[in-house]
Amino acid sequence: MTIPDLRTGLGWDTHILTAGRPLILGGVHIPSELGLDGHSDADVLSHAITDALLGAAAQGDIGMHFPDTDPAWKGADSRQLLHHAVQIVRVAGFQIANVDSTVILERPKLKDYRLAIRESLSATLGIELARVSVKFKTHEKVGPVGEGRSAEAQAIALLIRR
Ligand code: C5P
Ligand code: MG
Repeated sequence: MTIPDLRTGLGWDTHILTAGRPLILGGVHIPSELGLDGHSDADVLSHAITDALLGAAAQGDIGMHFPDTDPAWKGADSRQLLHHAVQIVRVAGFQIANVDSTVILERPKLKDYRLAIRESLSATLGIELARVSVKFKTHEKVGPVGEGRSAEAQAIALLIRR
């Protein structure tokens, strides 16, 4: 029996919430008093998915491909990073079966933006909407995320040999 060549990858990221920065998740600008701080646009969800894809293909991690010391990535649109990871996956001989993810953020409520975020990710990943899932959780008011000082994202990706 031949074993199908499937690969899973796990991604995680965190960024600090601060005033005067935009809140961008999966490439979608979310109205919010606080935004995410970082070298790039600090899109914590896109970064987690980027690492999930790179991990599944055993192609290192986001910092290896896009060092945060490199001025080229200052203020970068993280969809560029994600798209680059998609190309790395393709060159390695895989296609993306699905991506699931969770954003952990105390506020604002994100559920009204779920479809917009999924559509944005679907376009960047080059896969159909039904293969892209985004979930949201609070941190129940405890810890840095719960106190509204930071946000986290988790992602998992499944790749299939083309
Ligand atoms: O964290 P908790 O279990 O209370 O979240 C309940 C629901 O609230 C989630 O399943 C999600 O649909 C929604 N939610 C949201 N935006 C957040 C956090 C949670 O829409 N920032
Ligand atoms: Mg990040």
